[in-house]
Amino acid sequence: MTNIKIAPSILSADFTRLGEGVDLIRTADYVHFDVMDGAFVPNISFGIPVLQSVRKATDLFLDVHLMIEKPVRYIDAFAKAGADLLSVHLEADGPAGIREALRAMEANGVKRAVALRPITAARAILPYLEDLDLVLVMTVEPGFGGQSFRMDQLDTIREVRSLIERYHPACELEVDGGVNLETAALAAEAGANVLVAGSAVYGAADIPAQIEALRAACR
Ligand code: DX5
Ligand code: ZN
Repeated sequence: MTNIKIAPSILSADFTRLGEGVDLIRTADYVHFDVMDGAFVPNISFGIPVLQSVRKATDLFLDVHLMIEKPVRYIDAFAKAGADLLSVHLEADGPAGIREALRAMEANGVKRAVALRPITAARAILPYLEDLDLVLVMTVEPGFGGQSFRMDQLDTIREVRSLIERYHPACELEVDGGVNLETAALAAEAGANVLVAGSAVYGAADIPAQIEALRAACR
């Protein structure tokens, strides 16, 4: 797969120096921003005011991953805070709530995405696929950075890629969780074109070199 995009997750940055952390990834394609509410996932990260600050610190595309219950309640707020794309989990609300969230994204002019926990089958994207700009496949259980890539999710990535090719080829396929120099290549081979990496980027001694190495690993 050509043209792999790298989306460092600032969940792994040093929050006392977040501006520098954002600056260190300026050669990346997207900034991945993980919002956790302590209910949909067993962890709490950061939210709207932090997104406003990050928006001021970068012109990069802001990819905002909402790991929150009933995300429709917060679409307007995250859009106004500067998100370029919002992803909502299919497990976080019923179909009517997901539809409403996607409509709110469109009304706010932000790109639309749905995210899948490892338990969720690829075909769950079908009712929404034609309206989506991106599908996010989790390769860990959402909630924490630094976990191991779940190899059993390679099948889900392949299935999502084949549905995208069939019904909406312009849609992007992002993979999130445990991406490093080894697993990046596997995710890309399975059909991902956007790779989130938190600990693999921020744990590296030379962050720009690591971003380039992740891209190179997929060639
Ligand atoms: C996990 C988050 C991920 C996380 C990835 O719930 O959605 O974006 O930051 O971190 P790594 O790359 O360390 O697995
Ligand atoms: Zn994420």
